Amino acid sequence: MSAAPVGSVPAETAPAATAVPVGRQRTPGRPGPSPERSWSADPYSHALRTGRGPLFLRRTDGWLLPLDVERWCAPADAADLEVLARCEGAVLDVGCGPGRLVAALGARGRRGLGIDVSEAAVARTVRCGGQALCRSVFDPLPGTGRWGTVLLMDGNLGIGGDPSALLDRLAQLLVPGGLLIAETAPQPDVDERALVQVTDARGGPGPPFPWARLGTPALLRHADRAGWHPDAQWSTGDRCFVALRTGRPPARPAH
Ligand SMILES: C[S@@+](CC[C@H](N)C(=O)[O-])C[C@H]1O[C@@H](n2cnc3c(N)ncnc32)[C@H](O)[C@@H]1O
Repeated sequence: MSAAPVGSVPAETAPAATAVPVGRQRTPGRPGPSPERSWSADPYSHALRTGRGPLFLRRTDGWLLPLDVERWCAPADAADLEVLARCEGAVLDVGCGPGRLVAALGARGRRGLGIDVSEAAVARTVRCGGQALCRSVFDPLPGTGRWGTVLLMDGNLGIGGDPSALLDRLAQLLVPGGLLIAETAPQPDVDERALVQVTDARGGPGPPFPWARLGTPALLRHADRAGWHPDAQWSTGDRCFVALRTGRPPARPAH
């Protein structure tokens, strides 16, 4: 695959690719139970259509983590804009949800693509003017090895329930030395993997799937083991963020 200039979206993400593929197949060999079954379940799709919660991730012991659907469906806020200001090159928003960040990138003339396993999320992103594909991060993706920045916002470090596998996958997607900006849990001690279900706490919850939650220290530990380099840490209001860089290829010896 030829290199794309920094700041441009790889050619395969041209507008024709923004349609939502229906009846997509699960990629053989992808880790864990099918994520689209979990996040395409009624409670999440319904909340995205109405733009309103309540919505939760429910652990098997009954503990409920509230999901901030109203904020996800609103325009990008100050914390989001700070994240976007730090992005480099073409931006891949993994688990873009209803697409506020992809839409804000587009409005600023920046190139960005959202991917999400939820058809309702992708449809809403496209309606808001963003480019998005209905794909898992573990599926084959356009621009592999060429993205300048990958975003994991709103707890998306949890995707797949195995942070090390997710970090390895993101390193494949980024250009060498590329930037990952991840939002971490505001409680620094959190380092958790659990089976969860999406629920509105009224009807039946969706199917269980593996998820993870990491505070900043836990993310830095995982990242260090996987060969990432810390680039920055900051918080905006009660939201916490970490920027990491993939390792660069070894420099060639001078002759
Ligand atoms: C905690 S929500 C975050 C939503 C989001 N960032 C927003 O702005 O609304 C997690 C999102 O990740 C998506 N997701 C879950 N597993 C995924 C996967 N394997 N690949 C891509 N997206 C995934 C879900 O459909 C959901 O939209």
